[in-house]
Amino acid sequence: MMEDIKKFREVEKQKKWREEVQEIPPYIDKFDRLNKRIHPESQELRLTDIKKLSPNTKLYRFVSNNPNNPLAVFRAGQYIGLNVNINGVRTVRPYSIVSSPNQAAYYELGIKRKEGGFVSHYLLDYAKLGDIFQATEPMGQFHYNSLFHGKDLVFIAGGCGITPFMSMIRYFTELDNDINIEVLYGCLNELDILFREELDDLSTRREKFDIKYVLSEAHSEWGGLCGFITKDIIEHNIKSFKEKFYYICGSKDMYEFILKELERLLIPRHHIIFEAFGVPDDVSKIMGWPQSLNSSNLFQITIEYIDEGQNKETIFEANSTEPLLNSIERQKDLPISIKSGCRSGICALCRTKLLSGEVFVPPDVTIREVDNQFGYIHPCVSYPISDLHLDLKMI
Ligand code: FES
Repeated sequence: MMEDIKKFREVEKQKKWREEVQEIPPYIDKFDRLNKRIHPESQELRLTDIKKLSPNTKLYRFVSNNPNNPLAVFRAGQYIGLNVNINGVRTVRPYSIVSSPNQAAYYELGIKRKEGGFVSHYLLDYAKLGDIFQATEPMGQFHYNSLFHGKDLVFIAGGCGITPFMSMIRYFTELDNDINIEVLYGCLNELDILFREELDDLSTRREKFDIKYVLSEAHSEWGGLCGFITKDIIEHNIKSFKEKFYYICGSKDMYEFILKELERLLIPRHHIIFEAFGVPDDVSKIMGWPQSLNSSNLFQITIEYIDEGQNKETIFEANSTEPLLNSIERQKDLPISIKSGCRSGICALCRTKLLSGEVFVPPDVTIREVDNQFGYIHPCVSYPISDLHLDLKMI
């Protein structure tokens, strides 16, 4: 009897304990939602405004095409990859965001006509208001880092390379923080200077901001700095130049030139960051290029992929002096596409398995050791120098 009473009390205790436990509400993963807000797989943008900035550059304003999906947030200095479909050729180009991160309603991109370019010509000549584009999330490491960059910054821009700096300049101005910015902006001539009115206005209004233009093909009446941004120009125009943190954005050639000038001034390499989109204009002039090859060398590219559950193969010819990714994207019949963002070998989005063959990669491109070890290449910066066999089955 006593044993039964004891058991009964125990059961009652357990029951009470269970009833005391509060019901757990349905699990909502707020972090996942936030992550999707910051890193959406893709964004659908609508072109709402176009403005001429210079004879060969236009400003494009995009809003989200879906009111339920606001634009992904970004850091001043980052870029998005804009997808285009030009006569059946699907490709992506990275463009820095010009607008401030505080402006959540739109992204603005400054796009310059590139000589011999494919996408820039299309956008400048044919893009119209209302056009819809797919874009990547904001990407890139070219942004301010308060832990390492300090409060005295020098921005060195070449031509359209001013675009990520505009976002940073606007952002810092809006914050009204204590960061000092000095800009050296290299252009061909006065007509080429972008956002001049805004930059000049800011330099008169804001004590912590200064800009100097350096023109390489200046008109005889130009009273400012002339030539390239050399060691002497930096030394004589940047106050306490040794203690500053340097950002460089422009063409690859410009970056290499400025880096040498900064080295001559004994600026430590870890005080310099750069953004250089794209590939060399002429890869055959790059150190290490096999001298026996020229632009008429064609190589056979074999691609294995899966389509509708079946193993398939495509074979085509590619020019040795063109990035492999461009050649692949021109294969309109290929039903799959390789993702891309930076088109400079940095973001690793285009990572592809090379089964056999050899590619040339410019020596300044750093591919992760693990990719090298397991035979992965970045086709955006790889040039075929033999017949190639690629595996795109994992895409
Ligand atoms: S697209 Fe970024 S590494 Fe190729």
